[in-house]
Amino acid sequence: MQLKPDEQSISIDDQESRADLDRTLLQFPQGFLWGVATSHFQVEGNPEEINGRHSDWALWTATDGKILDNSTADRACDFFSRYDLDVELCKSLNLNAFRLSLNWPALCPTRGATFSRQSVDFYRRLLQTLKSNGFKTFVTLFHFCLPNWLAEVGGWNNELAIEEFDRFTEMAIQEFGDLVDFWLTLNEPLAYAYQGYIEGAWPPGHRGNYVGAFRSIRNMLEGHARSYATIHRLQSAARVSYTFHWIPFQARRKFNLFDRLSCYMRDQVFNQVWMRATETGILSFPPPICLEPAVKKISGPIEGLKDSIDYVGINYYTRQVCEFKWEWPPDIFGIRSDSPELETSGLGWEVYPQGLYDLLTRDLNSYRLDANGKPRDIYITENGLASMFPADLTDGDWSLKDDIRERYLVSHLMAVHKAIGAGANVKGYLHWSLLDNFEWAEGLRARFGLVRVAYPTLERTLRESAKLYARIAGSNALFK
Ligand code: GAL
Repeated sequence: MQLKPDEQSISIDDQESRADLDRTLLQFPQGFLWGVATSHFQVEGNPEEINGRHSDWALWTATDGKILDNSTADRACDFFSRYDLDVELCKSLNLNAFRLSLNWPALCPTRGATFSRQSVDFYRRLLQTLKSNGFKTFVTLFHFCLPNWLAEVGGWNNELAIEEFDRFTEMAIQEFGDLVDFWLTLNEPLAYAYQGYIEGAWPPGHRGNYVGAFRSIRNMLEGHARSYATIHRLQSAARVSYTFHWIPFQARRKFNLFDRLSCYMRDQVFNQVWMRATETGILSFPPPICLEPAVKKISGPIEGLKDSIDYVGINYYTRQVCEFKWEWPPDIFGIRSDSPELETSGLGWEVYPQGLYDLLTRDLNSYRLDANGKPRDIYITENGLASMFPADLTDGDWSLKDDIRERYLVSHLMAVHKAIGAGANVKGYLHWSLLDNFEWAEGLRARFGLVRVAYPTLERTLRESAKLYARIAGSNALFK
């Protein structure tokens, strides 16, 4: 295997990789952050949320047929009681950054009340443990879970969510502001809108409700703008952004106009609409969508939105190959092709590090500078790969030799390194995820952890990829 960071295509095959990597040194800039990303519902098993079924997700997972392996997140990794050991684990892996999300439903189980003290205590202890161990903290305010009292009245489809999210933000800054280095208002708003309103795999479980999806996007944009302003009102020096899930789309048949049209529409709606809105302050949809009266109604300027990011937070996993399907009525978005062309993860996602390089050096160009012409820092707030193992496995050596995750990690870090060399202002990388965790509709079997979790015993075991990541983080390089 050759590691030539100046080559156009980025790939790594396994046979000789270790030996070659050991001879290669690609140094990252001084002060680069190495971390992991997590979210509350996927790891916590927070008794306050679960026992009271206070969130839409706690209810959803208690409903038959919603989760592909019939698992729940009722206990998940029990991060709620084991967080201190997990922080120790991160330290032993040489990491210096940690991303978590606040459990809105557990903090605000009833409308209008002040925060639950039990949950405030948990997050203060967790954040203090991280800070006293030298970690930079990234905290997400909304990571897919709504309090039930809000979900019941339409969640992000109701403008009330904007108001309530702002109130939640204000209380969060007051309680935790002294312990947070980087705020993220929303996680992957487009994935949320798509899965909840079009695919129906997540709450509220609507299928094909495009107007609902677009309305939730509008309200989340307003929610972000308000939250951004509130954080800065309370902490003028705060660094605030959201995470954006970028997907490069590729036409299945390069010269087929219809495949290309589907690709274009997907790119517009999943990538461009949101990013353009936060850059210009105006929400606009491409034709023919923008001609729909309901879409017209929600398009237009949004107060406080323009330039409302202090840094860029990117979640990057894979590319999507799409094709047009002949059916009536025709769907301009086409379908996601199910015949992959590249190596795939357990979830069938293609391993495509080139897309990350292209994003950092090309697709993000219009977001590189802030309104004062100053380069924005970029953080990779998620990147990782799933392997599939049933949730009931306990001890044994299953899943510890995870070569494909190692290849994924190294090839994506090579893409980041090469992009930095080409001028991209990347300041940190957070791997998704530290632990195997509850992967939404896929359940517990889709395992994204550097660290294996045997759910019946909750035992944590380092995978080979975790050891590799520790070496990279420890030397701030690929590889010493
Ligand atoms: C992201 C999401 C995470 C995690 C990850 C892996 O979309 O923010 O919660 O599930 O993908 O699929």
